[in-house]
Parts: sequence; structure tokens; C-alpha cells
Amino acid sequence: MRISVFGMGYVGCVSMGCLARMGHTVIGVDINQSKVDLVNRGLATIVEDGVDALISDGRRTGGLSATEDSRLAVADSELSLLCVPTPSGPDGHLDLSFVRKVASDIAVLLPELGRFHTVVLRSTVPPGTTAEVVSIMERESGLEHGTDFAVVHNPEFLREGSSVSDFFNPPLIVIGTLSDKGASMLGEMYRGIELELTRVPVKVAEMIKYVSNSYHALKVSFANEIGRICRAGEIDAAEVMRVFRMDHQLNISGTYLKPGFAYGGSCLPKDLGGICAMATSAQIDAPLLEAVQPSNRAQVMETAARVIKAGSRRVAVIGLSFKEGTDDLRNSPSVELVEYLHGKGYEISIYDDRVVYSSLTGRNREFIDSKLPHVGAMLRPTLHETLEDCGTVVVLQKGTVDSSLFEGMTVIDATPE
Ligand SMILES: NC(=O)c1ccc[n+]([C@@H]2O[C@H](COP(=O)([O-])OP(=O)(O)OC[C@H]3O[C@@H](n4cnc5c(N)ncnc54)[C@H](O)[C@@H]3O)[C@@H](O)[C@H]2O)c1
Repeated sequence: MRISVFGMGYVGCVSMGCLARMGHTVIGVDINQSKVDLVNRGLATIVEDGVDALISDGRRTGGLSATEDSRLAVADSELSLLCVPTPSGPDGHLDLSFVRKVASDIAVLLPELGRFHTVVLRSTVPPGTTAEVVSIMERESGLEHGTDFAVVHNPEFLREGSSVSDFFNPPLIVIGTLSDKGASMLGEMYRGIELELTRVPVKVAEMIKYVSNSYHALKVSFANEIGRICRAGEIDAAEVMRVFRMDHQLNISGTYLKPGFAYGGSCLPKDLGGICAMATSAQIDAPLLEAVQPSNRAQVMETAARVIKAGSRRVAVIGLSFKEGTDDLRNSPSVELVEYLHGKGYEISIYDDRVVYSSLTGRNREFIDSKLPHVGAMLRPTLHETLEDCGTVVVLQKGTVDSSLFEGMTVIDATPE
């Protein structure tokens, strides 16, 4: 396949070398003449393990070249990778001017090209950018996306320092595009890499890179905070985290990584409070751990805001215990939500078969009567009675609830998907 690569920095240079090694004919484009010269002399534009050899091999075998002339590069390729910078602006938003410029540079060349061309956006961009690139290109070329050209978002996951091996063994190949032809051309580019393409809606593809990098930063900071707290207590942090990582059921796994409702119960809030207290007594800063409870509270408040926005003053809440499958009401975020809405004057009715059952049999009766009598009065014995006259239903636990009964109501489903 003939591929042009716009931007010969870290991502572009590594991609060029690796794609040439895979047998593609690659032409790099950069506005920086010295980078063009380096590549044409068989040298990488960056210092990175393995890249020098890939670039010099590519030059020697004739599969790799570089130019400042985008016209030449587009004329000589069927697919263009955009690896231009998207630096942060002062307010944190990414500067997309480089992406917009290259998109329009390529677009004006397409009419005279007279054949289908695929543009692959590899730069990290905020959701909505791919759609913007499509409109820029349609406007500048007068051509139609999907018929005459395609734009595909294919985020780059390589890490500097191990980028060549990351390219050949990627954790994921994510693509987002509205064009099947564009998707199949990208599949062609990756032929030889033993990993299926994960095709997702365009905005999901754009978001995944932000989410991955935020999570990586969160992991590093979490481990470092644990390290600081352990050090203060003369505890071997490396050993703590080694054992922590051995748990692949709850710790290093997909568990707890599904957006839904807030956590609660007798353990998570208490133990998080305990570790934060340890940090405070040792005069250790642990801003990440201390931000967890406020973040959890924000989840409850966001659900409350959705209820308020829905408009109805009569609200049914499904699920009162702190999580599905238990009657435990201690530190239940559902109780927090109900109390908040009740305080705002909403009429609430609650259905939770386990809580009703345990209170009827006396097992939870005392707790409800002494701690939450006002909430206990909102409990209804059946789903039918709970939903009566309600305009909004908040589903905090799915259980065996028959959602066909919610017809005509605004449903706020806060359960993890
Ligand atoms: N560096 C990484 O490890 C990494 C990893 C994943 C994703 N990314 C993302 O990939 C994108 C590129 O990052 P990078 O680190 O390779 O950037 P970089 O700054 O190293 O390289 C960008 C190159 O683009 C060139 N360029 C600018 N405008 C151009 C134009 N109009 N035409 C042709 N070339 C042009 C620049 O001269 C430069 O050589 C960014 O969005 C970044 O966030 C980077």
C-alpha cells in the first residue's frame, strides 16, 4: 500500500519506519526541512530504540522517502496518516490548528487526484474533531465523504521509549469512521499485525485516548500516594503494591470500571476515610485519595440534577440498599439521593424487594426505624404501588424489575451497563 505520513515527529517517524518494514511504500511530509533531510539521509528524526534501523533500512530498500511537498505526497499515496501536533492551550484545550491546516491542504488536492483517498487522524484530538475534519475536507474539496474520500480516526497508543515494539504489538487498534471503505483501507494498512480492529462510533474512538491516558496518570499517582503513605509508616510499599497487583479479580481487572451509580456500604467509605486519616496524621499529601469521596458525592448530585431536570415532583426510586443483592442500608448512596430529593420537596416512593423483605421479617426493621424512619415510610411493597402517579423513575438497581412498567415515565437508569 502507498502511504503518506504528515508530521515526522515521534509518532510520524516511528509509524513511517514500522510501515515501511511491513512492506508499505511510505512518503513522509514535514514543514521542517531538516527533518525531511534527515529521513532522506536514512536517519530518524527522533532518538528512540530501533527507529534508526527501520528508517535506514527503509531508505536502502527504497520503500521510504520524505518531502516538504504535500502535493507530491498525496499524489503518491492512497492513504494519509496525520501525525501532526495537538499541543495544549493555556486553558487545557488542545490546539487543533495543525490538524485543520493539513486537512485543508490535502482536501484541495483531492479533486485533481480523481481517486478515492483515505485520511487517518492519528493525532490525539477531542471528540468532535473527526467530524470537523470531514466538514473542512468536504468544504475545501467540494467532494463527498464516503464516496470520494474517507476520514478515519485511529488513535495512537505507543509509548515513547518502547514505541517500535508498541507499534508491532499494540494493546488495541481502535478505529472510528462513518466510511466502510476507509475502515477497510485501514485494515489493509494493518495487515500483518495480529490483532483485530475494534471499530467503534467516532466519538468513542476520539474519547478512548483521553480516557486511557487519564487512567494511566491516575494509576501512577495512586501508586505514588500509596508509596508516600507507606513510607511514612515504614511499610514496604513495593511489597504492598506487588500483592495488590496479584488480585486479578477485583484490583487489576474490569471490575468497578463501569459507569453507574455511587459506591457505598460499610467498607469502602470507612476504609478510604481510614487511609486518608493515616495520611493526615503523617502530614502526607494525598489529594487523589481525598478527592474520591467528593467525586462519589458528585455522582449522587448529578443523578439528583437529572431528576430535577426531568420535571416531575413525584419520583420512584428502584433500589435502596448500597448495592444490588443486599439489604444493607449503611452508607447507601441511594439513601443519600432520596434524602436530598425529599429535602427539596419531592414526593418519593421506593422499591427494594430485599429491604422490604428484611424489614417485614424484622431483620432490618430496627435500623430503618431508628436511623431512617422517614425513608422507611417511602418504601412500597410492590413495584406497581411504587410507580403509581410517578413521572420519573430512577433505577439504581436493575434486579428483576420489569422495565415495561416504566412506559410513559422519564427513566433515569444509573445502573452500570
Ligand atoms: N509522542 C507520543 O508518544 C504520542 C503518543 C500517542 C499520541 N501522540 C499524539 O500524536 C500527535 C503527534 O505527536 P508527536 O509527539 O509525534 O508530535 P511532534 O511534535 O514530535 O511531531 C509533529 C511533527 O508535525 C510536523 N508538522 C507540523 N505541522 C505540519 C504540517 N502542516 N505538515 C506536515 N508536518 C507538520 C512538525 O514539524 C513535527 O515534526 C499529537 O497529537 C500527540 O498528542 C503522541
